[in-house]
Amino acid sequence: MTSGEAHRPRRVLVTGAAGLIGRAATGLLRSHGVRATALVLDDPGDLSVDRVVTGDAGDPVTVREALAGVDAVIHLAALPSPRHGTPLEVFGGNTRATFVVLEEAGRAGVNRAMIASSYSILGIAWATTRLHPAYYPIDEEIPLEITDPYALSKQADEATAQMMSRRHGMDIVAIRYPFVSNETRLSARLAATLADPGATAADSWAYLDVDDAAEAAWRAVTVPLRGFHTVFTAAPDTLAPYSTEELIAAYHPDTPLRRPIPGRQTPIDTTAATRLLGFTARAMTGLEERPLGPAAG
Ligand SMILES: NC(=O)c1ccc[n+]([C@@H]2O[C@H](COP(=O)([O-])OP(=O)(O)OC[C@H]3O[C@@H](n4cnc5c(N)ncnc54)[C@H](O)[C@@H]3O)[C@@H](O)[C@H]2O)c1
Repeated sequence: MTSGEAHRPRRVLVTGAAGLIGRAATGLLRSHGVRATALVLDDPGDLSVDRVVTGDAGDPVTVREALAGVDAVIHLAALPSPRHGTPLEVFGGNTRATFVVLEEAGRAGVNRAMIASSYSILGIAWATTRLHPAYYPIDEEIPLEITDPYALSKQADEATAQMMSRRHGMDIVAIRYPFVSNETRLSARLAATLADPGATAADSWAYLDVDDAAEAAWRAVTVPLRGFHTVFTAAPDTLAPYSTEELIAAYHPDTPLRRPIPGRQTPIDTTAATRLLGFTARAMTGLEERPLGPAAG
């Protein structure tokens, strides 16, 4: 459901503001002339915000302090993979932070938030055995196949956000980001894919430029909308110079295609994000399609 009015926040709390997406998000807020509070574990001293609160996003006292004067929240703080801590640190830390940030925001009367969910919620990205999506293109209705604590933390985070939306009447968007790239990460990921296209098959060769990740977060807290929404975002192309359908046939051979995926188009259906956020990400690779070589299979 959407409402007709855009939300123009006066001050936005960005959790995890010192991270990859957080830095892009605070930079974008500054360019829009919106004041920002950063909630970070440690202050790196160079954040483009006018207020920094240090502490754990899972600590209600810290979060209450960080919410002063805030009317929208961009919640990014998390251990961003199952490799960033023990299973309990990843699941417990991430889900506690999301619960505390949204609960305290709701109690403080903040009625707008976004949370960073992930493509990893599918369960395929970090699985220890090769799993396959139920179908392509992937959309928000796809069944989840979770086998790792990070994916589970994102599933719990989305459930928490939906509950908080009902509990506090907050409008919340959970954005399922794919692999988020800057120039360095894009080159490294592309090199890995060129060496072995199977290396990034679990990510469905999807990516999103970090500035587009920030733009999606900005739109999630400003465009007219009501209630709780969860959407996938991705660049319109893949981070691979091959036909997407050939890649799927080689690495996810039993996954059915629900519609043709022409050329190098991403196998993520981003229609819902475009409809909700008025947002289409940019293609950053400039890659020409070439035949998938003998390394495939
Ligand atoms: N980068 C990606 O490819 C990607 C893809 C999908 C989803 N995401 C999600 O986007 C969000 C941001 O990711 P990122 O790539 O910027 O990660 P990042 O690791 O660069 O930044 C996350 C920041 O959160 C902080 N943090 C972690 N736990 C915290 C806590 N309990 N309290 C306070 N701060 C805490 C970390 O110190 C770090 O600075 C995360 O929720 C991540 O799961 C990222």
